[in-house]
Formats: sequence, C-alpha cells, structure tokens
Amino acid sequence: MTKEKDIDLVVIGSGPGGYAAAFRASDLGQKVLLIDKDDELGGVCLNRGCIPSKALLHIAKVIDETKHLSKIGVSFSKPQIDLDAVRNHKNKIVSQLNSGIKQLAKVRKVETMQGLASFLSANQILVEGENNTTKIIFKKCIIAAGSSSSLIPGLPKNHPSVLTSKTALDLVDIPESLLVIGGGVIGVELGQVYASLGSAVSVVEFLPGLIPGADKDIVKPLQRKLKKQFSSIMLSSKVISVNANTDKTLTVEIENEKGVETKTYNKVLVSVGRKPNTGLLKVENAEITVNEQGYIDVDEYQRTSQKNIFAIGDIVGNPMLAHKATHEGKVAAEVASGHPAVMDPRAIPSVVYTDPEVAWTGLTELKAKKDKIPYEKGEFPWAASGKAQILNASQGKTKILFDPETKQVLGAGIVGPSAGDLICEAALAIEMGSDAEDIGLTVHPHPTLGETFAAAAEVYLGTMTDLYIPSK
Ligand code: FAD
Ligand code: NAI
Repeated sequence: MTKEKDIDLVVIGSGPGGYAAAFRASDLGQKVLLIDKDDELGGVCLNRGCIPSKALLHIAKVIDETKHLSKIGVSFSKPQIDLDAVRNHKNKIVSQLNSGIKQLAKVRKVETMQGLASFLSANQILVEGENNTTKIIFKKCIIAAGSSSSLIPGLPKNHPSVLTSKTALDLVDIPESLLVIGGGVIGVELGQVYASLGSAVSVVEFLPGLIPGADKDIVKPLQRKLKKQFSSIMLSSKVISVNANTDKTLTVEIENEKGVETKTYNKVLVSVGRKPNTGLLKVENAEITVNEQGYIDVDEYQRTSQKNIFAIGDIVGNPMLAHKATHEGKVAAEVASGHPAVMDPRAIPSVVYTDPEVAWTGLTELKAKKDKIPYEKGEFPWAASGKAQILNASQGKTKILFDPETKQVLGAGIVGPSAGDLICEAALAIEMGSDAEDIGLTVHPHPTLGETFAAAAEVYLGTMTDLYIPSK
C-alpha cells in the first residue's frame, strides 16, 4: 500500500549539494525531508568520488615521496601493499563521514528516507523504497540527484574487467595492466593511484593533451611525471573496439593518425565524462525543462521552469564539482525559504589532486585566447622557491592573469604540491576584486609555497627580488 506524506520542502539526493540544501533550509525553519536511493547519505562525492579517491591519492603520494627520500639518503624497502587494509582504511574514512552527516541531519531534525524518487506532478513525488512506496506531497522541492559515469559504445556489458570510477574505487584487485580511457580528471587521478599500487597503466585520450580544460603549461609538469609513472600516454587517439577474452582480459583496438594498434589489458577504466541522472526522475511529469544533454535548466536563483522546484549540483551542468553543488544548494535553500540569495560566483576553482596537484580558477589562458579577452600575466617558477626546493617541487609554477587596465586578478593557475590549497587565495582575490599591488604588498610568510602567489604578482609589478628580470 502507498503511504502519503505532506512536507514543506523535499530534497532529492543527499550529495554535497543535497545535504547542504537540506541543512540550510532546516536552519531557516523549513520542515525538510531528504531522500536518497542509496542506503548511505553523502552522494557520489563522499561514497564513490572525492573522498575515497583522495584517500587513495594520499597513499600514492606518500609511496612516491619515499622513492625520492631514498635518493637523498633516507632509504625504505619496497612497499608491501596489503590491499584489504588499504580498502578498509578508505572505507573507514567514508563511513565516519557518513555517520557525521547522519548525525547532522538528526540534530537538525531533517527527516531522511531511502528510496528512488520520481515526479508524479509539480507537487508530488513517488518514493520507491526496498519494502514500501510513499507518495510525498510537497510545497517546494530541490532536485540534487547528481550524475553518473558516461560509457562509450561497444563495451562488453557488465564485464568485471570494465571499470568505472565507482568500481575502480572498490579496489577489488591491482590489475597487472590497466588501460584508462579518457585522460581527464578521473583518468589521471585514478591512473596515478593504480600506477602507485603497482599496475602498468596506459592512458588513451581523444584530444592532444591530458586534462584538456586546463592551460597546457600547468598540466606539463604532471604530464612529465605521469610519463615516468605510466607505461604509455596515447594522445590524439581513440578506442574503436573493446572485446572480452575468455581469460577475462580485454583486447582493445586504438586508433591514432599512424593507424590502428591492438593491445590486451587486464582491466579497462572508462573515464570519459559524466551524465546527469535526469532519466529516473521523470521530470516530464512535473513539466521541468531539460536541455539537449539532459541537464535541468535553472536560473541564477537555481529555479527550474517550475517556480516551486529548484535544481542544483551536477544535474544542472558543469563544472561538476562538489563545492559548486554545495554553494548552489545553499542558494536554492535560501531562495526557497524566502531569503535573498543568488548564485553569482566570479570564480569556481578546479583542482586535480594528483602529485603534483594542478589547480586553476577564473580566467584561463585557453579561454582568454579563444574569446579574445585581453590579459597580462605574472609567473613565478618554483625553481626559485626555497620551500619548493625542500619539497622536491621545483617543477611547480604559479601564474596570475591580470586585467591590463585595472591590474585586477582575472584568473590563476598553479601546479605543484598543495596547489589545491594555494588556489584559494586566488579565488578570494578574484571575489574581492584585488589587484596586483594588493597581492604583492600582502606580507606572506617565508618559507612557504603561499609566497609564490605574492611572488607572481611581484614579477608582474617588477618588484621581485628573488629573480633577476632585466627591465624592458
Ligand atoms: P551527487 O553527489 O551525485 O549525489 C546525488 C545523489 O542523488 C546520489 O546519492 C544518488 O544516489 C541520489 N539520487 C539520484 N537519483 C535519485 C533519485 N531518482 N531518487 C533518489 N535519489 C537519487 N568533485 C570535487 O569537487 N572534488 C573532487 O575531488 C572530486 N572527486 C571526484 C572523484 C570521482 C571519482 C568522481 C566520480 C567525482 C568527483 N568529484 C569531485 C565530483 C563530485 O563528486 C560531484 O560534483 C558531486 O558529488 C556532485 O554533487 P551533487 O550533490 O550534485 O550530486
Ligand atoms: P573529464 O571531462 O574530466 O575527462 C574526460 C576525458 O575523456 C576528456 O579529456 C575527453 O577528451 C576524453 N574522452 C572523451 N571521450 C573519449 C574517448 N572515446 N576516447 C578517449 N578519450 C575520450 O571527465 P571525467 O574524468 O570522467 O570526470 C568527470 C567529472 O567528474 C569531471 O569533469 C569533474 O567535474 C568531476 N571530477 C572532479 C574531480 C576533482 O575535482 N578533482 C575528480 C574527479 C572527477
């Protein structure tokens, strides 16, 4: 029998967008129901994305650091990988954070429900749980149903050797050889994890460079490192077929300008982008507009084409990042609760958590050139940073793009350890409308990597003393 339930605000999806929206709306006095089809709260980011991947990347980085130490007089024996222990460690971090979210929902009296939600109309959804079905009658709704891995045509169906990021993070085994299809963020992050744990990793990328959204110069040090860690990096190449063999290996045909190569791998990881989870929601029953790619259309208040229904996070489009989802979630919760709020960030940072990390925010040189946006830049090579030398990170670099007229920061790109932390200063500078002097004249502590941000501004201003730049 279908039960019925009335609620002020229902949130579909408990990822970083959904739970932030639910909690903010509850803090603003709404009676909130948070629904997820998964047993655990936290969405992709916590359960099969950001957190487990970064837990494994940390291990990969430490393994690599021990190799460097052995070159400078401190030797360790070859690491012994106890895969069960590594998997348990990663799972423990996830489950601790799962309980944290559950606890935060409880103290706020946000009700949670497990089940698959689909729209019946613009104020009703059906939630199908394992043993029961509930009809929810709502005043307002926030859709935060996220995204899932895209696949390429012609892959063997449900084959245990064909991995997505979700199954790759399950860490069932360390395959002797792994082909990563797609050299974007997931490809390089998980490729580096598996390479550090002992797989011979190859990457095939359709475009001429890895992480095509970032400026080439800040990807270069990572690409150089991956060249040493991976068996091969095949650029401007595409997979034309993947066939399963009786021994569970996969034979893959890869095409590039020279012709077609056939290779066999123990496993293949498909990381060619993500698609919105719009399909299962039956949004057409609520007359919610979606675009050609299936993303839900929203305005800057996160409102869909139905005034009482909002949408946030991956399901509304790029960038598909947890922090973007969270900000949008808060905006939706505030607007839905009658408060003034708008999603209008000047910059959303992107970080690739490999070793070295690659981070950028605001304007990139790629975009500036494509859209003919005038800019000037200040760059500081980490070879001149004491802290970078200490950390074996002299390949790193910090660059800032400035508006040639106002000298305000338009964008920044950083490569090196902790680039993801360092980029926060750039994001703040862009939000605050800071110019080159604001940054160059801010006293930064020494010796830190943070200094390189001020140094890039000083290079631009011509006041840098740690480098010799002859005056023009
Ligand atoms: P999601 O986190 O996708 O959550 C959506 C939730 O909705 C899921 O729990 C799902 O079960 C539920 N759901 C879907 N449909 C229904 C339905 N019909 N009924 C009920 N529930 C439903 N981003 C970063 O910023 N930093 C990172 O380091 C990072 N690393 C990543 C690593 C990997 C391997 C992957 C795959 C992604 C990573 N991301 C990272 C991206 C990040 O995970 C997403 O941008 C983020 O999770 C999106 O949040 P969301 O709230 O929109 O939805
Ligand atoms: P992506 O868009 O970053 O990269 C996909 C890559 O695959 C692209 O370089 C593309 O050119 C290539 N590609 C597409 N089709 C191909 C084909 N047939 N053959 C070979 N290459 C092909 O997507 P990815 O890595 O799957 O990640 C999805 C999203 O998840 C990211 O865009 C990001 O928003 C999010 N994410 C964020 C992380 C972070 O913030 N650190 C980490 C992981 C994921």
